[in-house]
Amino acid sequence: MYVCLCAAVTEKDIEQQFGEGVDSLDALASRTGCGTVCGCCKEFASQKLASLRSSAQNPSAQHPLPMLRMAVA
Ligand code: FES
Repeated sequence: MYVCLCAAVTEKDIEQQFGEGVDSLDALASRTGCGTVCGCCKEFASQKLASLRSSAQNPSAQHPLPMLRMAVA
């Protein structure tokens, strides 16, 4: 899914950038252009980065089923 239509940045692009060490909106903007034109995408891009940070800190939180989440933890 596209997050930033102006710069054609997808969720996968953000995940890839996060995997390469990008964890702030400013860094994402400088690497991809996300949020640098109209700015409509900034809030969602920030939420996506926050979600990735949270998942990285607590991998078991990614599982959609609570029982299996507990089993993973
Ligand atoms: Fe991202 Fe416009 S949608 S800058």
